[in-house]
Amino acid sequence: MSWVKTDNADLAAKVEQRVRYLERYHPEGPIEILETCQGSGLIWGRVKVELPHRQLRVTGIDVKPKAGRLRLKSERFLAMPGWSFDVIDVDTYGSPWTHWFHALENAPTDRPLTVFLTYGDVMAAGAGGFNPRHLTMLGLDLGEHRLPPGLGSRVYQRCTNMLIGLAHRYGWKPENVESIRPTPRVTYYALHLRRL
Ligand SMILES: C[S@@+](CC[C@H](N)C(=O)[O-])C[C@H]1O[C@@H](n2cnc3c(N)ncnc32)[C@H](O)[C@@H]1O
Repeated sequence: MSWVKTDNADLAAKVEQRVRYLERYHPEGPIEILETCQGSGLIWGRVKVELPHRQLRVTGIDVKPKAGRLRLKSERFLAMPGWSFDVIDVDTYGSPWTHWFHALENAPTDRPLTVFLTYGDVMAAGAGGFNPRHLTMLGLDLGEHRLPPGLGSRVYQRCTNMLIGLAHRYGWKPENVESIRPTPRVTYYALHLRRL
């Protein structure tokens, strides 16, 4: 897998990243997009402005109610087999990895998938909440033991490459993995998955 690191900023960076991946990996035809943390829909609203000639079919999910979208924890949606999208966007300022694992488990195998993940390092900000399930998924079982939050954050950062590399276990090859770090505690990942 190839890794490209870039520095950039916030909404403009997210929009630019998505436009670039769509142009490269989905150059023609309608594109089915699942926006799992839709919020106010700023990102894909801006992407549509940048690509007015493209048919971007956005399905929105959020835990907050709003007309025209699904209201639920979107990781639960991804955990149910049967969905079919070309693009999955997980723009949460927490951890996107539970969404990521469910996407790997249940993505349809007859088409490639482009994925955007926002990781906000809430552990480094002192909020605690390191999820040992991520280590378990990497084959590291802590049992009943807990990592101190500070150490958990450092371990978690080092796990990121391994978390993305887990795609191989599910029969996917991650291509063009890009990470943009507008601040030290936030990373915007983009990558494209093809079947091995
Ligand atoms: C950073 S905002 C998203 C901004 C959005 N992408 C935009 O372009 O405006 C995060 C959103 O994710 C929602 N959210 C957080 N966790 C979620 C989850 N597990 N399932 C669904 N929505 C979630 C929050 O309610 C919030 O609206």
